[in-house]
Amino acid sequence: MKKENINISLPSLKEAKIRKKVDIETIIYNLDPKYKDLGKGKNYYIFTYGCQGNEADSEVMAGILEGIGYVKSDDPMNSDLVLLNTCCIRENAESRIWGVLGQLKGRKRDNPDMLVGICGCMPQEPSATKKIIESYDADIIFGTHNRHNLPKLIYEAYLNKSKVVEVLSNQGNILEGAPKVREESHRAWVSIMYGCDEFCTYCIVPYTRGTERSRSKDNIIKEVEELVKAGYKEVTLLGQNVNAYGKDLGIDYTFGNLLYDLDKTGIERIRYTTSHPRDLDELTMRAMAECKSVMPHLHLPVQSGNNDILKIMNRKYTYEGYMEKIHRLRELIPDISITTDIIVGFPGETEEQFQDTLKLVKEAQYEGAFTFIYSPREGTPAASMPDSTPEEEKHDRLNRLIAEVNKGYLRGHEKFLGKVVKVLVDGESKNGEGMMCGYSEHYKLTHFKSTDKSLIGKIVNVKVTEAKTWFMIGELCD
Ligand code: 5AD
Ligand code: SF4
Repeated sequence: MKKENINISLPSLKEAKIRKKVDIETIIYNLDPKYKDLGKGKNYYIFTYGCQGNEADSEVMAGILEGIGYVKSDDPMNSDLVLLNTCCIRENAESRIWGVLGQLKGRKRDNPDMLVGICGCMPQEPSATKKIIESYDADIIFGTHNRHNLPKLIYEAYLNKSKVVEVLSNQGNILEGAPKVREESHRAWVSIMYGCDEFCTYCIVPYTRGTERSRSKDNIIKEVEELVKAGYKEVTLLGQNVNAYGKDLGIDYTFGNLLYDLDKTGIERIRYTTSHPRDLDELTMRAMAECKSVMPHLHLPVQSGNNDILKIMNRKYTYEGYMEKIHRLRELIPDISITTDIIVGFPGETEEQFQDTLKLVKEAQYEGAFTFIYSPREGTPAASMPDSTPEEEKHDRLNRLIAEVNKGYLRGHEKFLGKVVKVLVDGESKNGEGMMCGYSEHYKLTHFKSTDKSLIGKIVNVKVTEAKTWFMIGELCD
């Protein structure tokens, strides 16, 4: 058994709630030469859970690990270093992670030299960190603000044989210049900001991810220019609330300005996620309409269609205000595809209030939605609100909602029947042999007959012949 807690810094939700807008540190990644060969002759595996932000963070951690000599493995149970980049947004996200940790615990008994690291959002929660320390044999526990310290944390775990816990509950920092191992060579994530200041009452993210902080526009533009040079066709700009981009920089430059500037880099496709309806402004909507590279798809989480629930959720917009933005978007970009996130069973939600959500789903003509049953998160205001709706009723609401949402998915595909769409080819399709697939401009998964792997990473024309709920099928026209 290792000596425990030699280097220990534990999270605090109370501290994490404090928004300090001063002195947001930009850390330029600089590898201490003493760690340079730390991973030589060893391999690593990263499990990534949750949002695209975590996927982008894992690409950075993979870059850092490969920079110190580690080689990627595809067998987690037989790797020298296993990292779990975790998510705690809902209870079921956490449950899956406890399961994998249990398996790794058994594996570590046979292979005591294996290092297990837990990072990302879960360690930012005090109760989860306590459980990890008490019940699991993890060697390294770190949060969302100290990826750049990974070599040092590994070094301490190897050499001091101590359990290393470093979770900072500050406002967070901005990491620049870290190496990345990108998962794909034609589509890339580009984080443009970190953190969230919205404090929706059900959500743990503002506590785990720190305050809203934007990367400098020059660094973002440079990153996209380099991606263009490297042959990338598509970037997805990431942030918990990208529409708040720039507000913390104190300059007159917002998300809309960034879209116009990135359009000039020559990147063929720009997507972005996630948007907060309150901060979605006219300039951004215009940029979507005017910039050729900004794709005609928007994910605009609504959460609920009832004004009282929206108020208790602290969403800061109304049904009417939200619909106004939807109408304006359709005015500017008539064929836009809009998707959303919806929570059912928020504490105290009545059947009538749920009916308002169903009404909004029909009116907004969504072409897809992620739907969730409310999951209480310790430390958030909603977790202590009275909730008398039986679980069964919540599941029934979810099922009724899904039935409506699925009609939208199908409708979103049917509108392209007989039309030619441009598909950025991702690779071979899992849908059957001899098929390839990719996403159209409106973010529709499209399968077509071909075995030509040289098409991967190219944009091809596909004539849509069949529309299903989850995808479209078409014929290659080129
Ligand atoms: N319970 C259920 N869903 C949640 N989300 C965020 N927090 C919770 C929670 N406590 C959903 C919201 C958000 C999406 C990323 O996850 O719909 O938009
Ligand atoms: Fe959570 Fe709301 Fe921030 Fe989205 S905007 S991350 S739902 S607090």
